[in-house]
Amino acid sequence: MDGDEHTLSVDPSQIPYGRSGQPGSILDICEGFDLALEHTCGGVCACATCHVIVRDGSSSCNEATDDELDQLEEAPGLTLSSRLGCQCVPNGTSKIVIVEVPGWNRNAVKETPH
Ligand code: FES
Repeated sequence: MDGDEHTLSVDPSQIPYGRSGQPGSILDICEGFDLALEHTCGGVCACATCHVIVRDGSSSCNEATDDELDQLEEAPGLTLSSRLGCQCVPNGTSKIVIVEVPGWNRNAVKETPH
């Protein structure tokens, strides 16, 4: 593993990990593991700075709301797999979720639920 890749084991009993975003969201989990993920609006679906790309395991994540999709339209580097980290909540049914953080603080985050 290099400095840009992190493998996280999520303990559902610890959710919410942080104070930002939906409980159990990618942002919430990142906060719990002290991984920096921009979240200018504080995780309330009012910016697009928490833009992430879900590379694997997206079927285990909640569906994006219209509000999330509206905000995502403002995100640079938008892809079909893009989500807002503060709104994307994996439900644990996928053994692994691979998330890429695009942009200047590029990281690859692998989340493995218990
Ligand atoms: S932190 Fe602003 S939309 Fe996610």
